Amino acid sequence: MDIYERLAEVYDRGGWIEYSRRLLPYLQEILRRFRFTPQKVLELACGTGTVAIALAQEGYQVVGVDRSSAMLREAEKKARQAGVKIPFLRQDMRDLVLKHPVDLVTCFFDSINYLLSYQDLVSTFEKVSRVLRPRGLFAFDMNTALGLASHWDYRKGEGDLGDVAIIGTNSYDPQEKLGTIRITVFKKVNGLFEQFTEVHTERAYARNEVKTALKEGGLKLLSCYDCLTFQRPGKNAGRILYVATTARKSSHQA
Ligand SMILES: C[S@@+](CC[C@H](N)C(=O)[O-])C[C@H]1O[C@@H](n2cnc3c(N)ncnc32)[C@H](O)[C@@H]1O
Repeated sequence: MDIYERLAEVYDRGGWIEYSRRLLPYLQEILRRFRFTPQKVLELACGTGTVAIALAQEGYQVVGVDRSSAMLREAEKKARQAGVKIPFLRQDMRDLVLKHPVDLVTCFFDSINYLLSYQDLVSTFEKVSRVLRPRGLFAFDMNTALGLASHWDYRKGEGDLGDVAIIGTNSYDPQEKLGTIRITVFKKVNGLFEQFTEVHTERAYARNEVKTALKEGGLKLLSCYDCLTFQRPGKNAGRILYVATTARKSSHQA
């Protein structure tokens, strides 16, 4: 079974979307600093649509892309409830194709770390460069090696999550730079607990690798920050926010 297939149904109760919500004012501040006013936004790896819906509510024309149909079903449900119209497309970001160019691409909450090879990173950046209009912006955050090695373990209990408990345990392979998390969910159904486990793997990339991959993909790194701040990322940064733009004059595919 694909990852997120079962997790999707409890994802919003797992507390993860709080982080995505914190990125919204941060994104607005980034746009302000770059004096950039987008209209069309692609929320890449949009998951259950938290960021896509919030952006649509602020008046942006948003399209959401994710490879998990289960996550997209939740996103569609939430968008209907919020009364916003967002086309949600099921695509793998490595093969991303849009009919129309966008001004801004966002890709948040480690989604890029799910790309496990450097070539996948370059392919994704290349596809992003094709859907971005010239001088458009691409903002994404990534876990660093330190972030993958140290920030992942958690336990979340019934009280705040309703009838759900979630346990996440992680391991990190420094040789391969791979972080693996086992997420076990206990969900009460008719008074009994159902249990399922998903194993998620993320890869850390050094800042220089990301910069080179962006370049190979036709993008140019503009800035990177210790995520949720505007400080340069130091060696203790667990997560980095990157802002890139198109390197080509006209990058949208014909
Ligand atoms: C941690 S969730 C973040 C969801 C969303 N960005 C948010 O902030 O709420 C990671 C998401 O990345 C998606 N994802 C991972 N690899 C992907 C790929 N190759 N193409 C498209 N989506 C992918 C997963 O399906 C999942 O929805």
